Amino acid sequence: MNNEEFFNKLADKAGDWMGSGRYFTLKTDCYKSIFHDIINKIPIDDRDIVLDLGGGTGGITKYIAERCKHVILADFARTAIKKAEERLKDYQNVSFLLLDINDNFPSFEFKFDKIICYSVIHNLNNHEEFGKLIAKLLKITEPQGLIFFGDIPLSEKYMANLETRKFFLMDSMYIIRKNISNFIYFIKGINGREVKGISYTKDIIKNILSSFANIDYIFFEQDKRLPFANSREDLIIRKIL
Ligand SMILES: C[S@@+](CC[C@H](N)C(=O)[O-])C[C@H]1O[C@@H](n2cnc3c(N)ncnc32)[C@H](O)[C@@H]1O
Repeated sequence: MNNEEFFNKLADKAGDWMGSGRYFTLKTDCYKSIFHDIINKIPIDDRDIVLDLGGGTGGITKYIAERCKHVILADFARTAIKKAEERLKDYQNVSFLLLDINDNFPSFEFKFDKIICYSVIHNLNNHEEFGKLIAKLLKITEPQGLIFFGDIPLSEKYMANLETRKFFLMDSMYIIRKNISNFIYFIKGINGREVKGISYTKDIIKNILSSFANIDYIFFEQDKRLPFANSREDLIIRKIL
């Protein structure tokens, strides 16, 4: 099964709040919490045209739509887009685009003020693809526009977290939540091991970013209450000119 098939199946079988593959998330309001964390780092207002890249079933897109002028949800999973269309049918300022982020992008008649790409880039095949993606995104971003890569798994953070989980109680909590999530997925016929992905280190990312002249960037920790805050971070890239 390739990733596109996996995410189509996930969108089809999982309910709204698990339909984007948010593992270990046993909270039904996780999108709201995630959006709050995003909006604390990257302002979005009613003049902004936003791209929600890899937007999945639209859980975060809904909150973006409530703030911005227009948002395009792009994803390569047709079923996810269909679910998102249902979820967001009352929002007039949302449109949808079937797009594989590894392909050439269509030409847009405008540039984006903000691009949100949350919990997606670990589904790329390799780090080189991440560099290529940034190059494509910079072409469609306004000068001073912001690109938000959220929820990037960092190996060094994951290893540090493993250390803390040596304490029996923390490890038990982790194992319980993981098994409950996996059990729910199992009942729905989803096997999380079927999705392929990569992880990053900050050095790998800094190295990729060093090849772009026209940007600055900053890493952000996540709100500690978010499900992956222990092992993931967010990255904001600003296109200078
Ligand atoms: C973990 S989900 C995150 C969805 C949403 N951004 C969120 O945070 O709720 C990853 C999403 O990325 C999409 N995706 C993964 N690889 C992609 C690719 N190559 N092109 C387009 N979308 C992709 C999947 O279909 C899926 O909807």
